[in-house]
Amino acid sequence: MDSETTLKQEIAWASHLSLQACLLPTPKGTSCANYARCVNQILQGLNNMQLWLRIPLLKTDDDSTDLDSNNLVDSWELWNSFRMLCEHHSQLSIALDVLSSLPSANSLGRWFGESVRAAIINTDSFLTNARGYPCLSKRHQKLITGFFNHAIQIVISGKQVHSLPKGSTDLASNHNDSSSDGVQRHPLRPYLDYVGYLYQKMDPLPEQERFELGYRDFLQSPLQPLMDNLEAQTYETFEKDAVKYIQYQRAVCKALQDRVPDEKASMITTVLMVVGAGRGPLVRASLQAAEETGRKLKVFAVEKNPNAVVTLHSLVKLEGWESIVTIVSCDMRHWDAPEKADILVSELLGSFGDNELSPECLDGAQRFLKDDGISIPSSYTSFIQPVTASKLYNDVKLHKDVVHFETAYVVKLHNVARLAPTQPVFTFTHPNQPTMKSNQRYKKLQFEIPSDTGSAMVHGFAGYFDATLYKDVHLGIEPSTATPNMFSWFAIFFPLRTPVFVHAGSSLEVHFWRCCGPSKVWYEWGVTSPCPSPIHNSNGRSYWVGL
Ligand SMILES: C[S@@+](CC[C@H](N)C(=O)[O-])C[C@H]1O[C@@H](n2cnc3c(N)ncnc32)[C@H](O)[C@@H]1O
Repeated sequence: MDSETTLKQEIAWASHLSLQACLLPTPKGTSCANYARCVNQILQGLNNMQLWLRIPLLKTDDDSTDLDSNNLVDSWELWNSFRMLCEHHSQLSIALDVLSSLPSANSLGRWFGESVRAAIINTDSFLTNARGYPCLSKRHQKLITGFFNHAIQIVISGKQVHSLPKGSTDLASNHNDSSSDGVQRHPLRPYLDYVGYLYQKMDPLPEQERFELGYRDFLQSPLQPLMDNLEAQTYETFEKDAVKYIQYQRAVCKALQDRVPDEKASMITTVLMVVGAGRGPLVRASLQAAEETGRKLKVFAVEKNPNAVVTLHSLVKLEGWESIVTIVSCDMRHWDAPEKADILVSELLGSFGDNELSPECLDGAQRFLKDDGISIPSSYTSFIQPVTASKLYNDVKLHKDVVHFETAYVVKLHNVARLAPTQPVFTFTHPNQPTMKSNQRYKKLQFEIPSDTGSAMVHGFAGYFDATLYKDVHLGIEPSTATPNMFSWFAIFFPLRTPVFVHAGSSLEVHFWRCCGPSKVWYEWGVTSPCPSPIHNSNGRSYWVGL
């Protein structure tokens, strides 16, 4: 009781001083309920201050069955017990104690999905370089760079264990040695200088990444381009993505060459329809492909957003395309086309591929595609993978309702741990095979989390897509095959109402459904193993896409 009173007093004092955070001692095992109860009580009444629980970065690769709390092999379990007892409180974070030996890369990776605020490096963990200065192992360097990338503060602690060569100047900094300017240098200064040197050595962020900094881990509602009319600004952002249109141009080139042999290039006119033309970038890419391949083209640009059609008309006039391009202000599902198309070009893809209803729209447009006609894209597949994403989970939880836990979000994933390789979910092919009449889908997936990761918490699923535009020309955001330098799509995130704990070595079974009604399409998702979750978004009660 005395300890409890003292802890509360000290935290009250720290809070009185408006400190940003307070470090809390490491719990002594996974059954630390009393300590957690006390901290949980403090959290209930805390102002803006954070509590940083000190956790040693420890996991032996020993998979022994002896997992009792006295013989701890994985300190992540310490953290996990404690934060679960404190109901994932968003002001409870982690300060990692970095030791001289490090766990496997997969095991370390988990921490990047948790709310780690600081990493404490003890001077004992430093090695000594040839000149007598402190330095870190390659693996430690990589880890520290990862911490920098995640805005995790570095704290150096311990005694000065390196006695620097006398009169030497500091290799890793611009500062001269302590005595030269008469200012007493801090004994840990050489360690700090080395960490500063690692920071300066980092590659600068690419321009696009810098632009996207503000979007990191920020939840956005997916667009509904079918039900809503997009704004000019949204089109403007699309149009900046040169890589996307280059891929489309490459695909159209190949399709034109397959459609019309070289010797007939001057005789045959290919009918190409851009369905969902927006303000016209795919019309431009198609015309450039025709020029590049010397093929003759007749273009129909179909767009249902009357505002975008205004800009489209100006573009056609400005570029002098009136004799080649016909603008049709209409929903492609209802257009009565005057002739059939050889090539149908569209970009109706969402972060999860089919989530902006490309399948439904293209099924409607297929009526005016010739029997042997080509659709660009010819297919697209969605992918998911389980992730630890405590920040996203807490941001969804802030809304205090079920609706937000049953909604998919577009998000630039950053503070996440990807726990297993992605797996394909739904595939759509165009033109649609007559046997595939329904766009409803169901998929059961089994994820194996690598055994050296240890146990992990799954807060939800990251979703991506990959589209085959034509033959070998693809475009997508699935991490292992993502199109470089393309920025039109962030990932999608499907949250779980209750995070699922997956024990080391056990697998995760997940179910995804794509459901279709007369006026909407929606996803439902749920986990059945290691323990069943509710099925999320039943009947599309929380999140749906309007037809
Ligand atoms: C993702 S935007 C792409 C626009 C443009 N092609 C580009 O690449 O910048 C999709 C466009 O398709 C349009 N669209 C969606 N569904 C449609 C439909 N059923 N009929 C006609 N246009 C549609 C939207 O209004 C929007 O302009």
